[in-house]
Amino acid sequence: MQCPLLLLLLGLLCTVIEAQQISVNDKVTGTLGQQVNLPCTISSNDPNIRVSQIMWEKGGSSIAVFSPQHGTHVSEPTNFQLIEPSASSATLRLPSVRAADEGNYTCEVTFFPAGNRKATTKLVVSAMPLNFAQANTEAIANGEEQTVATCRSSNGRPPSQISWQTSLPGNVTTTMTNNTDGTYTVVSRYVMTPTSQADRMPITCVITHESVEVPIPLKLSVMYPPEVTVEGFDDNWHLKRNGVFLTCSAKGNPPPTSFIWKTTDGSPLPPTVRAKDNMLYVDEVDERVNRSFICEVTNALGSRAFRQDVLVREHAMQTQTNAGAIAGGVIGVILVLLLLAAIIFIVIKRKGLHNKQDRGTYNPKTRVFGTGKPSQEFTYQDDGELDKPLKGPGPMRDSGLSPSLGDEEDEDEEERMKYKVLEDDEEDERFNEVGPMLQLRPHPQIDSYLDDDMESQTDGSIISRTAVYV
Ligand SMILES: *[C@@H]1O[C@H](CO)[C@@H](O)[C@H](O)[C@H]1NC(C)=O
Ligand SMILES: *[C@@H]1O[C@H](CO)[C@@H](O)[C@H](O)[C@H]1NC(C)=O
Ligand SMILES: *[C@@H]1O[C@H](CO)[C@@H](O)[C@H](O)[C@H]1NC(C)=O
Ligand SMILES: *[C@@H]1O[C@H](CO)[C@@H](O)[C@H](O)[C@H]1NC(C)=O
Repeated sequence: MQCPLLLLLLGLLCTVIEAQQISVNDKVTGTLGQQVNLPCTISSNDPNIRVSQIMWEKGGSSIAVFSPQHGTHVSEPTNFQLIEPSASSATLRLPSVRAADEGNYTCEVTFFPAGNRKATTKLVVSAMPLNFAQANTEAIANGEEQTVATCRSSNGRPPSQISWQTSLPGNVTTTMTNNTDGTYTVVSRYVMTPTSQADRMPITCVITHESVEVPIPLKLSVMYPPEVTVEGFDDNWHLKRNGVFLTCSAKGNPPPTSFIWKTTDGSPLPPTVRAKDNMLYVDEVDERVNRSFICEVTNALGSRAFRQDVLVREHAMQTQTNAGAIAGGVIGVILVLLLLAAIIFIVIKRKGLHNKQDRGTYNPKTRVFGTGKPSQEFTYQDDGELDKPLKGPGPMRDSGLSPSLGDEEDEDEEERMKYKVLEDDEEDERFNEVGPMLQLRPHPQIDSYLDDDMESQTDGSIISRTAVYV
């Protein structure tokens, strides 16, 4: 008999406790300078219990009080308001929230005769930052560390985080300013020793604010004096050759504004050459061209020069190349390929036969051809004519192969044919398949220039050793 009575009592107690409820939001986020509401609602289903007072407080001090009997009292009416307070609701409004308003707000309700109940809301104040990123257009490749890009996240709350994405080595310096309104300004700088190679390179600043990532892609700008090269001398300038020219190429930031062709000793250019911007044309080669030429390029940062030594030959360099040989060579290549195909066909066929007849028998052909594919060396040695038409003027000097054809009668036609072959990618590729000896190198000077004449400067730039500083 005792047990059901106890349960009944407990049940009554429960309904008494649940009869008065205060509900608030656990957390409210307000944006700095904007209005924010903190609701507090009271429910009581016991008509014998009355609400005698509702009070909002923060940090132990009262902000606003409402009593159904005595009305409303707000301590700082400009910063806080009670919206339509009643026995069942008292919403605290902050018309323009400040960073200092952040904190815990407690809604405390006095019930008569049941006593006090309370609930707490956490107010968080945030502010959207203003983001800005910029590459330093004044950066100069002068060997000194400097800021190449700056990223700024202003007046954010909480403070933003800034990171950088780039392949360029450098250091990041970040500073944070605490503003009086409770916001933070974060400035991050990417510091490095810029080189000409860093010019126009991509870099991305990533600003993270309240878990939102904002990437800002940038392109670096690094100023550097001109980097000059001269192309067009093929080491086969011989007397009476016409239509040759030198091309002066230069990069620079800002872009080069002038190209000047000079001689090394300061004497005027020979009358047989014509300088036009970055080009130096030689209508007909003679002894007066047998000298060094300087191309001097200037931009806002200064002038740099490249010296091209020209050696004029009495006669054209012995070449194995002429139009007829090219045609013959192409036919020769095709014939050799056909021959090889036939050999491979026969080998495979015989191999198949052997496999059927006696598997263990040694077959020299199988060994020679390995997987059934001819070796490159075999191809080359089989027909010495192959290399003749396909060689550029440069590599031939080094290859040590004795020239076999001295035909010079139509030099220009020969040149045209050479370059026609060079430009024809499909043919080029086919030739490359045949063997390494047949590979064409259209600009032999560039290779030697890169290998021998480049010098790393302390500022990280690469300047030709033959360059002349003006
Ligand atoms: C607000 O209350 C939470 C727990 O509810 C506490 O962790 C936090 O420190 C309080 N904040 C302040 C400013 O008192
Ligand atoms: C980064 O800073 C350190 C210390 O100041 C310095 O030794 C280093 O060279 C810097 N690295 C780069 C890539 O600038
Ligand atoms: C700025 O604010 C941060 C975070 O609130 C704090 O750690 C830092 O000490 C403050 N700095 C200054 C100079 O007030
Ligand atoms: C060009 O000059 C070199 C020496 O610098 C000399 O050996 C060569 O014979 C000259 N060429 C001509 C065509 O005079």
